[in-house]
Amino acid sequence: MTPPPEKDRRRRAASIEQLLAAKEIVICCGSGGVGKTTAAAAAAAMAAANLGGKVLVLTVDPARRLANALGLEGFGNIEKPVPVDAFKAAGVEPRGELWAAMLDTKQSWDDLVLRHAPDEATAYKILENPLYQNVSGRFVQSHDYIAMERLFDLHSGGRYDLIIVDTPPTRNAIDFLRAPDRMADFFSSRLLRWLTVPARSRVMNFATRPFYQVADRILGSQFLEDIAEFFLLFHTMYAGFVERANAVTRLLHDRRTTFVVVTTLEAAPLREAEFFVDALREDKLHIGARVLNKVLPRYLLDGASARVAERLCSDGPAIAAAMPAELGERVAVARVLQEIGESFLNFAVVAKREAEQRAELASAPDVVATAPYFETDVYDLAGLLRLGQTIWT
Ligand SMILES: Nc1ncnc2c1ncn2[C@@H]1O[C@H](COP(=O)(O)OP(=O)(O)O)[C@@H](O)[C@H]1O
Ligand SMILES: [Mg+2]
Repeated sequence: MTPPPEKDRRRRAASIEQLLAAKEIVICCGSGGVGKTTAAAAAAAMAAANLGGKVLVLTVDPARRLANALGLEGFGNIEKPVPVDAFKAAGVEPRGELWAAMLDTKQSWDDLVLRHAPDEATAYKILENPLYQNVSGRFVQSHDYIAMERLFDLHSGGRYDLIIVDTPPTRNAIDFLRAPDRMADFFSSRLLRWLTVPARSRVMNFATRPFYQVADRILGSQFLEDIAEFFLLFHTMYAGFVERANAVTRLLHDRRTTFVVVTTLEAAPLREAEFFVDALREDKLHIGARVLNKVLPRYLLDGASARVAERLCSDGPAIAAAMPAELGERVAVARVLQEIGESFLNFAVVAKREAEQRAELASAPDVVATAPYFETDVYDLAGLLRLGQTIWT
């Protein structure tokens, strides 16, 4: 790894707080289940509380309780303010405002079609096409693109000082990064042109006739016509779409935009996070921070505690004998003590491995922030702020 040039190093944020103060768009990414949604909401809550201004968190798949806490049930694409009272209940007087929105893929696609179709009649033809309804509602890939598209829309609206984006659980963490490019490629692809040929002119050539004859028999001519119509209609949005996809790509590269890679210290997510960091670097995107989430507490590394655990394992019965009798049967007490000791030692092994991985990551050129594994899920503003506090400075 080559060290960054001197001037870059000076400008680099030293904490999540500084990073968020300096940027307008923060994209939280990483593999599934590591805490992307939670981290995005926690960072946004902290920014609203401490930095001030209008902060929006755009979530993709919040757990129901978290969505409720943010006031997001059934509101689709519309942004909603998180009530000041929710902060006050958590003992915080916010300096700014926290807004939240959920990504509604279907609605976002419909908006996009309405914006780019050459006229209203065409727009409605597209919206009513059965194939379109399938693609916009279910395509995983369409999720990727639409999250970035929605971000672009919100950012150009200029209503927010800071937008923090959660990313969809893609099969591959980098999929959504390439989504705008793929969308542009798709529209200029030969496949698309080829598919639209039979609808443009019913004169089929030698090469395509057998395909259509077979396809006709298998799929039914209605289906083929739907496909052809869909692609033909979609093609009318070509120019607008490509231009827009390129603008979205430019926004991702803008110096006001940064990426935060969220991961746990487990082997698989960590590997994926490293892979993701490489991909960001390759695409020359700004890596602002890594958040190591659900990290085990440091006391697990404490030698004295480990020795106690070892003694619980080896001398369980003796220690149980010295315990007050009302605790329960000696045998049961001994069993529990031994179990606790073993459990502690097992966690200590994992904590040790985590500590090694953290030491390795400490040399990473970006901010590395660590959040502990809390004993409960993080589902309300107080929980978000508690987690946010641990990664803030
Ligand atoms: N530091 C943490 N300690 C305890 N639970 C956490 C922590 N971070 C996240 N969680 C919980 O883990 C689950 C998955 O988090 P989520 O943010 O939805 O992950 P992702 O968006 O990456 O799939 C949620 O139930 C969340 O409350
Ligand atoms: Mg999520």
